[in-house]
Amino acid sequence: MVTEAIKANEQTSWTRTPLKEECPVDDVLQEFQTHRTRKEKSKAKELEQMDEKHGPSPTEIEQPAEPENELKKELTMLDLPGVGAATAEKLKEAGYDTIMSVAVASPGKLIEDVGLTEQVARKMIHAARNSFKMGFQSGEEVLKRRARVIKISTGSKAFDALLGGGFETGCIVECYGEFGSGKTQIGHLLAVNCQKQDPNAYAIYIDTENTFRPERIKELAKGAGLDPEEVLRHIKVARAYNSDHQMLLAEKVSEIIDSDKLNVRVVIVDSLTAHFRAEFIGRGTLAERQQKINCHMHTLLKVADTYNLCAYVTNQVQVDPAQFFGDPTKAVGGHIVGHASTFRIYLRKGKKGSRVAKLVDAPNLADGECNFVVNTEGLTDV
Ligand code: GTP
Ligand code: MG
Repeated sequence: MVTEAIKANEQTSWTRTPLKEECPVDDVLQEFQTHRTRKEKSKAKELEQMDEKHGPSPTEIEQPAEPENELKKELTMLDLPGVGAATAEKLKEAGYDTIMSVAVASPGKLIEDVGLTEQVARKMIHAARNSFKMGFQSGEEVLKRRARVIKISTGSKAFDALLGGGFETGCIVECYGEFGSGKTQIGHLLAVNCQKQDPNAYAIYIDTENTFRPERIKELAKGAGLDPEEVLRHIKVARAYNSDHQMLLAEKVSEIIDSDKLNVRVVIVDSLTAHFRAEFIGRGTLAERQQKINCHMHTLLKVADTYNLCAYVTNQVQVDPAQFFGDPTKAVGGHIVGHASTFRIYLRKGKKGSRVAKLVDAPNLADGECNFVVNTEGLTDV
């Protein structure tokens, strides 16, 4: 009885899915697609005929092997099961504007963001994932991919050496330390120095503490021998007023890069934890805070990996009262931030106004320490 009822229920819920009568837009889109396919077919035939006459064009010969995550065939949101024009619009509004964004989403997130049923969400994700070549890569391929990594120099030889050449793109680099330890200075410096290596590079600065100073950028640009006005033009700054706003801004980064075709090399979040720390007070809110920070960091990691940019985040410290010996300062955000950061650097004040950078965690480098000085022109060795 019960199973029959469930079956009946499923059937009714499925017969309800087509939105054709409700949405004549669907028909128009379908017609447009058929028209497009016909057009594409005739174009393909034309090209085939040309090939027979002249052989393949030089660009075709030089085409590299399939790029990663390439679509087997060009899919649009409307090709996914259960997606009509209305759902496509809802997906777009919720920030799912590519098939990849659906493919990497979890059913729970899709249900929450778009208001779908679990069954539809799962089917959509499954279809989106199937349309990609999301397989394993050989170590050799990963090494080749690593070749695209850019290292942004700090100006201090000792600091660069500690990081194996500079701040890496394609990952999250976190600096934590007490006030005045130089976290914000490094953020400003990266926004400038990425342009020293590539004049077309852009930096995105998510400022949560109102500490972005264009005047300081001008000083650092002069120190790097760059045109200060041009450098400022290549930095996009957004002030985040609360943690949700901060998360939203991070999600918008990919949109800005795609729509404005910007060659972004660094995304700076200064500070990563200040808003979360101020808004989530008490043990009862800890789980929610950590979950949100985790989600935020994953957004940053995805952006860093997709666009080969360095996500630089600064983090505050707190005193661990249980620590009797050694340095009692601990980074805020606990293990969540620690695990999500690819490189973790602890900054502290050193002797005679210098700063000490300690590499605490790195995937391919040994832990170590170095001293540097913050000058008007930038960072230098002691
Ligand atoms: P909080 O954000 O408060 O946690 O600190 P922070 O780690 O971000 O510190 P920040 O990077 O702002 O470092 C401030 C320190 O940098 C100052 O105390 C100065 O020692 C140094 N500094 C900042 N601007 C200049 C400058 O123009 N010239 C020089 N020589 N030093 C500077
Ligand atoms: Mg700061």
